[in-house]
Order: sequence, then C-alpha cells, then structure tokens
Amino acid sequence: EAASKNGFDHFMMKEIYDQPSAIHETLARRLDSNKMIQLDDIKLSKQEFEQIQKVYIVACGTAYHAGLVGKYAIEKLAHVPVTVDIASEFRYSDPFIDGNTLLIAVSQSGETADTLAAVREAKRKGARVLAITNVVGSSVARESHDVFYTWAGPEIAVASTKAYTAQLIAFYMLALHFARIKDTIAYNDYREKVEQIEKLTPAVEEILSRKETVKEIAQTLLEAKSAFYLGRGLDYMSAMEAALKLKEISYMHTEAFAAGELKHGTIALIEEGIPVLAIVTQDRLAEKMISNMKEVKARGAYVIAIAKEGIEHIHEVADKVIELPKAPDLFMPILSVVPSQLLAYYVSTLKNNDVDKPRNLAKSVTVE
Ligand code: G6P
Repeated sequence: EAASKNGFDHFMMKEIYDQPSAIHETLARRLDSNKMIQLDDIKLSKQEFEQIQKVYIVACGTAYHAGLVGKYAIEKLAHVPVTVDIASEFRYSDPFIDGNTLLIAVSQSGETADTLAAVREAKRKGARVLAITNVVGSSVARESHDVFYTWAGPEIAVASTKAYTAQLIAFYMLALHFARIKDTIAYNDYREKVEQIEKLTPAVEEILSRKETVKEIAQTLLEAKSAFYLGRGLDYMSAMEAALKLKEISYMHTEAFAAGELKHGTIALIEEGIPVLAIVTQDRLAEKMISNMKEVKARGAYVIAIAKEGIEHIHEVADKVIELPKAPDLFMPILSVVPSQLLAYYVSTLKNNDVDKPRNLAKSVTVE
C-alpha cells in the first residue's frame, strides 16, 4: 500500500498530485497531430448530433458538480440547452426524454446505483446515452451507447479529486467537439481553446508548489464549527464542490452559497470569526463578489479568497488570499478546485481524521 501512495502519506494527497498528469492524459490521448479533438469511443455521428435538441447530465456527488460546469461549457460553446440533475432525483421526476435527447451520465466508478438506473431509464425512453467514466468496462460504460473515458488512473481516496478535474476536461473537450460539429465555434477560437486547456497542466503544478500557504490557512480553521463558500457563476459551481470536499473529510459544517443570494437569508448566519471562503475567478462577476465579501466582513467574518491573480481590491477585502494563475474564465474551475482540495486535506489531517476513509462514506454507492 505504501508503494502505491508513491511516497505520500495518504492516497488523497497522491491523487491531488496526480492531477497534472490526469488532465494531460485525458486531453492528450484525444488530440491528433493537428491538435484536433478525436473522440474515438464516441460513435455519435454528425447527423445524429445535429438531431439532439436537449441534453441531460445526471450524476451524484462530485460527478454532479462536474456536470454543473459541463452544462455551462456545452451551452456556451455548442448552444444546446442542458439540464443537470442529481441521478436519484432525475429518476423520479418524469424527465422529458425522447429520441432527440442526449443523456450524459457522469460517474468516476461507473457503478453508482442511481446513475446506472438513470441510464437505464433514459435508454428505455429512447435517449442516446453517453457515459463519462474513469473505469473501463464499468456498468455505466457497458450500458451506455457511447463512452468518454477519463484517464485519471485509479482513484482510491473516498473524496474525489483527480477524477473531478478529469471530468471537467472531458466536458470541455465534448463541448468543443460538439461546437465544431454544430459549427458554433470559429476554427481559430477552437484551436486557441485547445491550447488554453493544454496550459492548465503547468498552472495546476504551480498551485501545488504553493501548498504550504494553504496549510497555514487550514491551521486557522481548526476551531471553526462552520464555514461557508461563496461564488457566482462558475465560481458557485466550484464553491459547491469545495464545500463538499471540506465537509466530507473535515466533518465541519460547510455549505456553498450563490453570493447573490446572501441577502435572502444566508447573511443571518454570519457572525464574528466565522470563516467565509470566496472564490473569485470570473472577471465580469468580480466586482459583485468584492462587494459581497465586504458585506460579510462588515459582519465579522474571517474572509479567505481563492482568487485569480490581478483581481482588483481583493487584498483589501480579504484577510487571506490564495492566488491562482490566470486562465480564461471558462477553465478556471480546474484551477480553483485545487486549493480547496488541499485545504480540506489539511483540515482533515490536522484534526487527525481518517482522510482517505472518512466516517460513514463509501467510495462507490452501489445501493439506492
Ligand atoms: C460517493 C463518493 C463520491 C462520488 C460519488 C459519486 O459519494 O464518495 O466521491 O463523487 O459517490 O460516485 P461516482 O463513482 O458515480 O462518480
């Protein structure tokens, strides 16, 4: 077991460090010599894709959060409406599925009972089903019409890290591929985006090299009973994943809020010293986030920002800032999740929790 941890104390940290290579592998294996995306495992033809009128993304847990980012990417680049649903809810909600629906099932293990049931239900209703999974030959892969394998390698720690970032890469690639088929993206823009995705690998490495800063911040959270993550737009999706990561291994009460909803109730929870983690990576929303941070700070919150380099006024309003290298806003979820994974890891291990096998949780939930 020690050998497979590759010198790290825990699988989770090893897997956090596997991310540059998981991102690279997921992308590079599907780029041809002209850097065009080739999705061999996907048999969906141009004609079939053109008939797709709506997309459903279903998943559980962390994979669901990847789906939320996936929706954003597919709608923005390929101009198809996308609905994201939690697999256990989807099944019982009489979804509008017909022969013009594409259902994307996201599952690291490919064995989650509710996700598998959603695949079966969608097929029964005539949908085309595409799986994004990390396990070759898994049940979800076998039962879907098309498969996009994330090449993250085996993920052992219960809290998902590298599978999530690889799922995001899969969604970016699918969205670009669909956009090319539908002609909703110019050739140069497509090429530029592929290059920008390639640059995420060194950017993740850079964040990992600054992990000590995150450890110092983790030390300040050990006594807190609750912590809140805030974000807007894609940062709200990242906030949900960050909050899940922190709660599942630190056992701290953690929630994510859309920052714009603060005034509609959440702000009542803010009291002296409560940690509020603000994710700020979206240029057009940064100013609004800064003002939300001021609001919580004025009520005594201890504000930690996970922010893209160069956001104006961030150092004035935050008590601590974790800076992220610059990437286009669409791809920032890949970068903003890394410090939140590290933070969750450090809070958990500093509390002497069993970080790889948190209480009451299973790696794969194969019963409903
Ligand atoms: C469990 C795991 C999570 C995972 C979720 C979905 O809750 O602890 O880490 O995100 O299942 O698993 P899947 O294998 O379908 O992605």
